[in-house]
Amino acid sequence: MLFCYAIEDIALRIVTMKKILLMGPPGSGKGTQATALTERFGWPVISAGDLLRAEIKKNSPLGKEIAALINKGHLVADRTIIKVIEQQLASLENTDVVLIDGFPRTIGQAEALDSAGLGVQAVINLAIDPEVLVERLSGRRITPSSGRTYHLTYNPPKNPGVDDTTGEALVQRPDDQPEHIRTRMTTYHQSTAPVISYYEQQSQTTDLAVLTVDASLPITQVFDEICGFITPLTQGE
Ligand code: AP5
Repeated sequence: MLFCYAIEDIALRIVTMKKILLMGPPGSGKGTQATALTERFGWPVISAGDLLRAEIKKNSPLGKEIAALINKGHLVADRTIIKVIEQQLASLENTDVVLIDGFPRTIGQAEALDSAGLGVQAVINLAIDPEVLVERLSGRRITPSSGRTYHLTYNPPKNPGVDDTTGEALVQRPDDQPEHIRTRMTTYHQSTAPVISYYEQQSQTTDLAVLTVDASLPITQVFDEICGFITPLTQGE
């Protein structure tokens, strides 16, 4: 059964860990804000996209299956991503807070978390006009080994074409081609936008906190708004 942990310490540790979700359409800035939050607060981040890309790099049969889907902008099956996230959550130690970027992305994934008793404490919804996103994604460059994200205009590396820390050559993601960007946008509106409504409804009857932030603002302003929202929720951590 999905998310069915043995009844031992690990289960309680994961259940009580504060889970903060970063949600929003492709290119809204989930990865950028997750990196900044980790740098500021030291919390680990579980990035669904990075984990899937890491599996692709292994060139395993599963990695090949994943590549065929995500490089063209399609979601992987719920059972695949749930297993990956489950393993990552179980591997976390010495933290009371975890940031989750890009999961859940379907109602089925959200229900799997809930039915395992792994409810979330906060949802950060990065809302943005779709027009802006194409420019963001086509200008994005990443560091292959770490997934660190830059933008040719809005967040350029110190030296053109290379990572600030490691000096690695930056690359463009295969799913950042225009036709795949369109597929990702459609998938987002059909499958993931309803998950935000799901959490908004939940927030009316539980302690779950939801912040919708204008993600078209500059990176630092979005970050400040997120910090103002989550600091009181995580005080004492
Ligand atoms: P994933 O890697 O999560 O892709 P995504 O959701 O499409 O999001 P992106 O990584 O493209 O964008 P982002 O919101 O992180 O923006 P970023 O910070 O990079 O997932 C990849 C694929 O894996 C999915 O398409 C799917 O196929 C599969 N997958 C993942 N999770 C899954 C799940 N749960 N179930 C099934 N399948 C799953 O920013 C974008 C650019 O804009 C950067 O260049 C950045 O520098 C710039 N930027 C960021 N913020 C700003 C700002 N405020 N102003 C100006 N520029 C900015």
